[in-house]
Amino acid sequence: NLFDEPSTRTMGSFHQSASLLGCSVFNVHGAARFSSFAKNESIADTIRVAEAQGFDALAFRYGNEQGIHEAVSAAERMVLINAGSGANEHPTQAGLDALTIMQEFGTLDGLTLGFVGDCRNSRTIRSLIRLAVQYNIKRVYFAAPEMFSPSDDVLELLITNPIPYVLSPDVCTIAPHVDVLYVTRIQWERMRGWQKLLWRMRRAKFHKAFVVDERVTDMLREKAIVMHPLPRVSGKWRELPEETDTNHRSRIWKQVENGNLFRMALLAALLAPREYPVFQSDIKAASIYV
Ligand code: NCD
Repeated sequence: NLFDEPSTRTMGSFHQSASLLGCSVFNVHGAARFSSFAKNESIADTIRVAEAQGFDALAFRYGNEQGIHEAVSAAERMVLINAGSGANEHPTQAGLDALTIMQEFGTLDGLTLGFVGDCRNSRTIRSLIRLAVQYNIKRVYFAAPEMFSPSDDVLELLITNPIPYVLSPDVCTIAPHVDVLYVTRIQWERMRGWQKLLWRMRRAKFHKAFVVDERVTDMLREKAIVMHPLPRVSGKWRELPEETDTNHRSRIWKQVENGNLFRMALLAALLAPREYPVFQSDIKAASIYV
């Protein structure tokens, strides 16, 4: 595990999943400070070192997509897994999210998905949508203040597939229509200085429009589920108050459990000897798994 952005769940989950499969695990957290990145070592050399030391797989989190691609190009033998690339992608989160939805509904076909919160900066939303468009999703709703509405590439993905979508400034207008309400936090750390200032001035007004509290969960369909990739914000500006955890629709802890299951399955599929027919696949070594 080589993580250059904060992580609790994803790194913990890769650690647990690999350990449960009988692998030995080496974790580097805060790579900018605590790996040789701090000595200006290139990503490519870091990968070469890990290969020479005999590591078979690397879960790599980096602040941008470019870094992940550099790692992939340098790897000759090692399996690389994208554990989060800036505000862009988080494919293993999409996998565990899809697993959670499938446990509930059996498929993603025919479902209506609702996304709330920071639809612009959330890599988990982008990755889940990239996965979901491969199914016959019925419709997608987004509820976000304008400065957090989804970026053009996400909307284009829906247009080209084609999957109808609705943008709304208020979660109350989308809640009664969705099968899955996927809540995200406002990603403060991805905002520029002026955006932070603007958001600080506006959030008192907008917070009510995207907080998913009991008022909102009461509007949901009986069989709808509430998801959140976590972490959620605590205190005054929380987007998913703890009181909703006891609602029968909440699946947020199930998602965390499913993280281990999905990553164990992924590691097994990528690392098992090829003569095991069950794991036969044409996934190449050194691929970003999406
Ligand atoms: C998310 C992430 O890192 O993108 N968390 C996670 O991996 N479960 C979501 C977030 O940071 O808000």
